[in-house]
Amino acid sequence: MVIYTQKETLVQALSSTSKNDKIGFVPTMGALHQGHISLVKKALSENDLVVVSIFVNPTQFNNKADLQKYPRTPNDDISLLKNLEEEIIVYLPEVSDLYDTSVSAKKYNFGGLENEMEGKHRNGHFDGVGTIVSKLLRIVKPNTAYFGEKDFQQLQIVKKLVSIEKLPVKIVGCPILREQNGLAMSSRNKRLSAKLFEEAALIYKTLKEVREKFSSKSIAELNALVAERFLQNPHLNLEYFEIAEEKTLKTAKRKNKGSKYRAFIAAFAGEVRLIDNMPLN
Ligand code: PAF
Repeated sequence: MVIYTQKETLVQALSSTSKNDKIGFVPTMGALHQGHISLVKKALSENDLVVVSIFVNPTQFNNKADLQKYPRTPNDDISLLKNLEEEIIVYLPEVSDLYDTSVSAKKYNFGGLENEMEGKHRNGHFDGVGTIVSKLLRIVKPNTAYFGEKDFQQLQIVKKLVSIEKLPVKIVGCPILREQNGLAMSSRNKRLSAKLFEEAALIYKTLKEVREKFSSKSIAELNALVAERFLQNPHLNLEYFEIAEEKTLKTAKRKNKGSKYRAFIAAFAGEVRLIDNMPLN
């Protein structure tokens, strides 16, 4: 494994590889877990060379405390990647390597995708994601980049980003990995107490219940059911539940034949904000 902390040396190293080598890229914010590792394994199986970036991007955090508390475990991250016993290139930059004096995001229009769900609750979040993903893709120039479906809205936005900016890269979405209790794997889970970790399984349980009842209940009934499940649990605070059409991510008021729907939840377990989603049909 080789670790680069500066984009110039990374670019230099990548440019000296064979032109035909396929480059796979897994961008992360570190605090790696098995969900990330599954992306890295997929990238390893499909490419000649794999780059993993570890960078907590300040411009995608709308909340300073959240940025400060975001887990940073670079030594553990590197050990996890080393355990794979494969050649991996790690890019682990400081903020100044990716942003010059102004640490700010470009303003994007992702055709409305940015105004739904996470966009409503995390002001400017997707401008920050678009800005950093664009920078990273231009540095690494991968053939394929891998993103987890836990951040399903982010995945759709990244697909839109590469089409707007005409970046020659294939974006691949990878399935959510779950803890034994069903909780979606996330770097933020590291901040949960043992009690809240168990309670947070409600998110997955509720999504599963919605999927089971999707064909027999109306969307209004399902919305009410989810609100009720969260009201019954004093440890979790529902921020939003939405059933949305998969392509546009627009909130569904009723079911249309031929459309694909997904259920999305954002909830607080104590101070920790968790998100999850599940396809419904
Ligand atoms: O999903 C993440 O970890 C981040 O949003 C990403 C894509 C690495 C950009 O900072």
